[in-house]
Amino acid sequence: MTTQNFIAANKDRFLSELFDWLRIPSVSADSQYKGDVRKAAEFLKTKLSEAGVDKVEVCETKGHPIVYAEKIINPSLPTVLVYGHYDVQPADPLNLWDSPPFEPVIKDDKIYARGACDDKGQVYMHVKAFETMMKLNLLPCNIKFMVEGEEEVGSDNLGTFVKENKTKLKADVILISDTALISLEHPSITVGLRGLSYMEVEVTGPNRDLHSGVYGGAVANPINTLSNMIASLHDENGRITIPGFYDKVAELSASERESLNKAPFDLNEYKKELDITEVKGEKGYTTLERTGVRPTLDVNGIWGGYTGEGAKTVLPSKASAKISMRLVPNQVSSEITELFTKHIKAIAPPYVKVKVTAHHGGEPAVTPTNSPAYKAASKAFEEVFEKTPIPSRDGGSIPIVALFKKELGLDTVLMGFGFDSDAIHSPNEHYGIKNFMVGVETIVAFYKYYAKS
Ligand code: BES
Ligand code: MN
Ligand code: MN
Repeated sequence: MTTQNFIAANKDRFLSELFDWLRIPSVSADSQYKGDVRKAAEFLKTKLSEAGVDKVEVCETKGHPIVYAEKIINPSLPTVLVYGHYDVQPADPLNLWDSPPFEPVIKDDKIYARGACDDKGQVYMHVKAFETMMKLNLLPCNIKFMVEGEEEVGSDNLGTFVKENKTKLKADVILISDTALISLEHPSITVGLRGLSYMEVEVTGPNRDLHSGVYGGAVANPINTLSNMIASLHDENGRITIPGFYDKVAELSASERESLNKAPFDLNEYKKELDITEVKGEKGYTTLERTGVRPTLDVNGIWGGYTGEGAKTVLPSKASAKISMRLVPNQVSSEITELFTKHIKAIAPPYVKVKVTAHHGGEPAVTPTNSPAYKAASKAFEEVFEKTPIPSRDGGSIPIVALFKKELGLDTVLMGFGFDSDAIHSPNEHYGIKNFMVGVETIVAFYKYYAKS
């Protein structure tokens, strides 16, 4: 039986298993779901075991467990280490979902559920690709799986796990499906990811909430103050004003920019899909550059004062904001965190106190396009899509990629099959069934070409 036939013949079962996994609300951020996160890990363990691994374990960490599995067919053959995450983002706001987030449904050939694309659906392609290779006697090299349950909350315990298990994790390349494809007509392989510094700023004015009529106009309002501070973080050209912020940014050469901008991208479609009339960003750069190779600063949440129903007149004591910065090579997350902290303190007016806290961060990454693994991935796409995949830069972050390079000396191949429009982290997250199916097929082809190289 051919790979294609096997995958097609088992499509319904593959999907119904994935649906069972998606029904487990493995929300890592919310302690209420701790038990479900573990259930999702156990589910994966069972499925890997049924697919034919030699060994599979649910490894304890200080947080959520890591699922590790391996199939060693011959120690002298190369080993691929598959990384992914089985945890998902919180589903809220729930009222914006058209169907419940943990009750997967198919609509227009897409699976709607939290985690459908990020990342359970994409991890499951690897489980089923492995099963396919086992059943058809096609597995040409060794495979290890490391699937974590804390990616969406900053992978706090993964670094320790990697450092403590270097022998166990010994491999020749890392393979990850947790990124996006340009489209099915224009396949792509991600070759760059941005890094991240995630900060929280709290501004305190008076020692208590005040009546905005009695005190308003005489005492600084921390929400007004924080808003002004945030507004000052970009100049009129959309550049970030933090001193030193751009010092280490690697500028692309003219030819690199040209090839990046050759990627198929329809600005009108983009605007239409988001219901916006204009895009906005750093002056002098295209949208693809702004999301792929330029650093950014965004407020992710802002609160303070009264936000309940109706009107309450209040001059609040405190205001807060969560601010993230996406980083590009060769910015360093800890350095940017420090520059941000220093700058916020410097611009805070004397009539408020300011507290700056750093949340998780991560380093940007670029992956090589001349490695045997990249070339194997490229050939796999050519075989399945009948087109050479375009190397592309994604705006999201997978901090583990830089960590793998640093700790294990390994390069990563980012073979993602999602679309930017799949609404990951948003209501109505979905994943195309076609994406899932061609994903399984492409992964199987990857092993074939990789083992030959
Ligand atoms: N899979 C995403 C990252 C991603 C999305 C890469 C789209 C490329 C394209 C991952 O699960 C994620 O959400 N990462 C976080 C960072 C993490 C440290 C919480 C992110 O990018 O916000
Ligand atoms: Mn992900
Ligand atoms: Mn995510």
